[in-house]
Amino acid sequence: MHAAGSGSDLEQRQQGPGEVHAAHGEQPAPVHVQRRPRVLLAATGSVATIKLAEVAELLLQFADVKVVVTKSASHFVRGQELPLSCRPVLGDDDEWRQWQAVGDPVVHIELRRWADAFVIAPLSANTLAKVANGLCDNLVTCVVRAWDFSKPLLLAPAMNTFMWASPFTEHHLATCRRLGALVVPPVIKQLACGDVGSGAMAAPADVAAACKQQLRAAGFDFELPLEAA
Ligand SMILES: Cc1cc2nc3c(=O)[nH]c(=O)nc-3n(C[C@H](O)[C@H](O)[C@H](O)COP(=O)(O)O)c2cc1C
Repeated sequence: MHAAGSGSDLEQRQQGPGEVHAAHGEQPAPVHVQRRPRVLLAATGSVATIKLAEVAELLLQFADVKVVVTKSASHFVRGQELPLSCRPVLGDDDEWRQWQAVGDPVVHIELRRWADAFVIAPLSANTLAKVANGLCDNLVTCVVRAWDFSKPLLLAPAMNTFMWASPFTEHHLATCRRLGALVVPPVIKQLACGDVGSGAMAAPADVAAACKQQLRAAGFDFELPLEAA
């Protein structure tokens, strides 16, 4: 029987973050990667998804980008001009459209293989809770559940101040950090609902900068000339 919940398995998991942080740049020194990095950008059901195009544009300045969204996020994507190279935006239906028979590629596994970094910006309270508990009932959370934590996973939460202040939030974020995720913290400002407080997604430029920094630590050298594709 698979010992998923055994003590030794848990111990191994708890050692993970140290290994991950080492892999992200402390030691040993990363091997230089001479190609353009690939970033998978996910958006979830937060109002901050109205900034999805802006985040994608900024990431495109240094990486190839694919975009995945949850069903709730798609409400906020309508009407946005996403960069051509990021289209089509992938959602849950694409998992099933592209899988017809055994042997066909499975989208969330292919995306997990393709991406050098995974950025969830914005990250809703709901998806945060799912990620922290290993739930995987849509395309975005399936990629997280399959994620190789030696590669950067960045989370940029965005939610109402009351949700942000809930004890669930810190509990879930602590779990994600232990797994090796980097949290790009939200900022204080007037939220879409009119409340003023913490919970607004970090500035898109800060999310992109954090991603670039993580990729650099993972071995991508943005100063080297890229190899021809
Ligand atoms: C107009 C509107 C705005 C919302 N904004 C947020 C938000 O900023 N952050 C958040 O965590 N949830 C927000 N929600 C609730 C989420 O959309 C809801 O929890 C949803 O189930 C999230 O699904 P997902 O995590 O699969 O994207 C909002 C809901 C509505 C209707």
